[in-house]
Amino acid sequence: MAAFPKDFLWGAATAAYQVEGAHNEDGKGLSIWDVFSHLPGTTYQNTNGDVAVDHYHCMQEDVALMAEMGLQSYRFSISWPRLLPNGRGEVNEAGVKFYSDLIDTLLAHNIVPMITLYHWDLPQALQDEGGWEVRSTAEAFEEYARLCYSRYGDRVKLWATFNETIVFIGHGYITGSHPPSVRDPGRAIQACHQVFIAHALAVKAFREMKIAGEIGFVNVLQPHTALTNSAEDKVATELADAIHTHWLYDPVLKGHYPEALLAQTQAIWGVPRFEAGDDELLRNNLCDFIGLNYYRRETVVANPGETSTASNHNGEPNSGAEFGFKDLFKFVRNPDGVYTDWDWEIWPQGLTDGIMMIKERYGDIPMYITENGLGAKDPIVDGEIVDQPRIDYLSMHIEAMENAIAKGADVRGYYPWSFIDLLSWLNGYKKQYGFVYVDHNQNLARKRKKSYFWYQSVIASHGEQR
Ligand code: BG6
Repeated sequence: MAAFPKDFLWGAATAAYQVEGAHNEDGKGLSIWDVFSHLPGTTYQNTNGDVAVDHYHCMQEDVALMAEMGLQSYRFSISWPRLLPNGRGEVNEAGVKFYSDLIDTLLAHNIVPMITLYHWDLPQALQDEGGWEVRSTAEAFEEYARLCYSRYGDRVKLWATFNETIVFIGHGYITGSHPPSVRDPGRAIQACHQVFIAHALAVKAFREMKIAGEIGFVNVLQPHTALTNSAEDKVATELADAIHTHWLYDPVLKGHYPEALLAQTQAIWGVPRFEAGDDELLRNNLCDFIGLNYYRRETVVANPGETSTASNHNGEPNSGAEFGFKDLFKFVRNPDGVYTDWDWEIWPQGLTDGIMMIKERYGDIPMYITENGLGAKDPIVDGEIVDQPRIDYLSMHIEAMENAIAKGADVRGYYPWSFIDLLSWLNGYKKQYGFVYVDHNQNLARKRKKSYFWYQSVIASHGEQR
């Protein structure tokens, strides 16, 4: 007997900008990604989501593929500027209808919708007013959330406010590789604060509107391991946990920042700046669940004296530096590790460890594994997509998740990234994650991969056959 609870949901995930296309159709406003990806040299081979995999027009076909697979839940995000072209104010009813139809189609196939309100595609109109650095964007987010609750709250029970703050703030305000391409740790910390406030405002609205469902927040789950047993590397690893985990989970699960780190950022940068009532707002609007996106762990060493806003070997903000501290830590390649083609370590044990770490720090919070997957160049053999490495990767991670459940963790669902091959923000269409292949040379025709049939039997056997 598998250890998965009876109501455990076998899902899959995507995000609006990465699948929908139709970037300027039916009244949609522009997002920061629509604008940024059109600036030469900002993305891999100048790829963009103008068409993506045309899910906007292929929605019925895509949901039929989900249903045939036996999918029990689908995590997708809503494009804010498709609903509110200017970020607030006038509502684009054609955009509202697209998601309403998607939800109805999912429910007709007994697929539970999970909505992510923000997966990085901020309306450009709000960016022009200061984006995440200003309180008015958090207030506009509340207006957008209320609109979504009022239109979809009768049918959708699972809601997440934000996806991976560390990534869109880290890349947007530290490495500069995502819009708005700023490189300033102080501004990053302040923008991150407005995101937490936006989240709290949206949770408050959810409670006030008495939506019959659960609302949470999605974070990167990134366990850290010291490279050596030295005291320096251990201290460095604790700091990595404080910055990459506690800073991002504490405000939404405990209602406040980790105190020691807060004192340091405020001493060095004078941020985050609180407005009257912020403390109370955070404290009174905690999550019902936490979404965990797990891909890899990071190996940590003490960093002797370097400080920069450079990125690490994964192209991400290089540890410690983003908070303006020097002599802290950095991420390195684990000499014994197994790595993907994109240099992400494959370490399934990290999923068990990470889940247990969350349980230990935050108690019995319900969890969903909202992303987990292998980015690869899938081989095509005699016309079939034989993505065995993906099957191996997912199989090992399902076992790791099962081990955490056996140890008492309240994990309620699993959403591999991604249901279908889609646009990778900075890696174009070369880096594939999907169960469904999309042929870019043949009118974006869909084709089931080997992993599609494999996951079908995982779902049918409630995790036993894998
Ligand atoms: C997560 C994001 O960070 O990782 C997804 O939520 C993203 O949107 C996924 O696509 C994989 O990242 P990448 O860079 O390999 O596409």
